Amino acid sequence: MERRDFGEEFCWGVAVSAYQIEGAHDAEGKGHSIWDIFTNKKGNVLNEHTGNTACDFYNRYSEDISLLKLLNIPNFRFSLSWPRILPSGHFYVNRKGIDYYDRLIDCCLSQGIEPWVTLYHWDLPHELELMGGWTNRDILYWFGDYAELCAKHFGDRVKKWMVLNEPMVFTGAGYFLGIHAPGRRGMKNFVPAMHHAVLAMGEGGRRLRELVKDAEIGTTFSCSYIEPVSERDKDVQAAIRVDALLNRLYVEPILGLGYPKELRKPLLNVEKFIKADDENNMPFDFDFIGIQNYTREIVKYSWWTPYLQASIVGAKERKVPYTLMKWEVYPEAIYHMLKKFQAYPNIKRLMVTENGAAFNDVIFDGKVRDSQRLKFIQDNIRQVLRAKKEGVNVEGYFIWTLTDNFEWAEGFHPRFGIVHVDFDTQKRTIKESGLWYRDFLRSCN
Ligand code: NOJ
Repeated sequence: MERRDFGEEFCWGVAVSAYQIEGAHDAEGKGHSIWDIFTNKKGNVLNEHTGNTACDFYNRYSEDISLLKLLNIPNFRFSLSWPRILPSGHFYVNRKGIDYYDRLIDCCLSQGIEPWVTLYHWDLPHELELMGGWTNRDILYWFGDYAELCAKHFGDRVKKWMVLNEPMVFTGAGYFLGIHAPGRRGMKNFVPAMHHAVLAMGEGGRRLRELVKDAEIGTTFSCSYIEPVSERDKDVQAAIRVDALLNRLYVEPILGLGYPKELRKPLLNVEKFIKADDENNMPFDFDFIGIQNYTREIVKYSWWTPYLQASIVGAKERKVPYTLMKWEVYPEAIYHMLKKFQAYPNIKRLMVTENGAAFNDVIFDGKVRDSQRLKFIQDNIRQVLRAKKEGVNVEGYFIWTLTDNFEWAEGFHPRFGIVHVDFDTQKRTIKESGLWYRDFLRSCN
């Protein structure tokens, strides 16, 4: 397999997000995000880790961009921190925050690296959360105005935009399970947060399109390949419900298909939050859809699981290989997800905006021989090629992630980077997977 097999237009890159790498949590006028609050409360994050310093990317971005250059990586996906730009979420603009992203964008461009900007990768301004966050319908104005501000400031140089990152994860983990910021639980929080996140994708997309005429606008979704544990009808039906929840809930309304009917029963009270015109405003004609796949899930019927009557049979229990996140290593999953999304008639283009794996890396002799990650990435890229050869319109692949970073509730323990970070010294060491990516990307330059 070589880079040229994918064609010249194919976009190769790496992806990161603001809270996971920037640090500088209170520097130069930045407001608190929900993650600043959540991580600083005992018991929320493994080992009480916080993103207060993280990879110190705020101060070291130019070295890390040089690393991208060294690794021949032409596309860099990063997110903007909303409270760095608007400390309380709306109205007052922090000029220093804008300046920082100006410097970062200019630095990418000066190295010939294309910035791919995500507007929202989970770090909601805390002040907005105090007013209900994603459960408050006003989020549509707050978010829309933030999107507009970003488009106005950066749209002259940024042409690739993504509106939300993995809405299912930030609403599911943050507003239903309470294991991510802001730590709220239950359907009463999840359902309005979900509906507003669906509407926010269209709102953000429209604001960007209006102001950046030549922009390519996308949004990204988490997805897992779902299979039933057996062919028993109950397991098959359970798998259909989990698939609807994890893979269809967010994408179908923006494609104009409405909420999946399989979820109507547990989600019934979404009607309560739907206002006149919402049905018209949910769809948006995205230029591309980002899919982010890491694994597959095996599902079985379970009568005691509220709402879904379904549960996941873990990789450990099934005695199959898994990563530090306990996610099964199953590269075919990405192929199946590409095929599944391609089957929707009105998706124009697909991008793999994240894919990667966490393993236990060790530095030995100044080297990180991360052979499991290397194999994972190679096998996944091969599956992307397989889908592409079968006619799937997939035009990009971004590794999650450049440097080891803050993995949300798991803290710094799971390392996903192709570059190792010593968090005491901030020293970067390119792993074997990074060296392979460098050589792979050089292969037809
Ligand atoms: C998805 C998220 O977008 C990202 O923030 C996270 O670190 C990776 N997956 C790995 O879990």
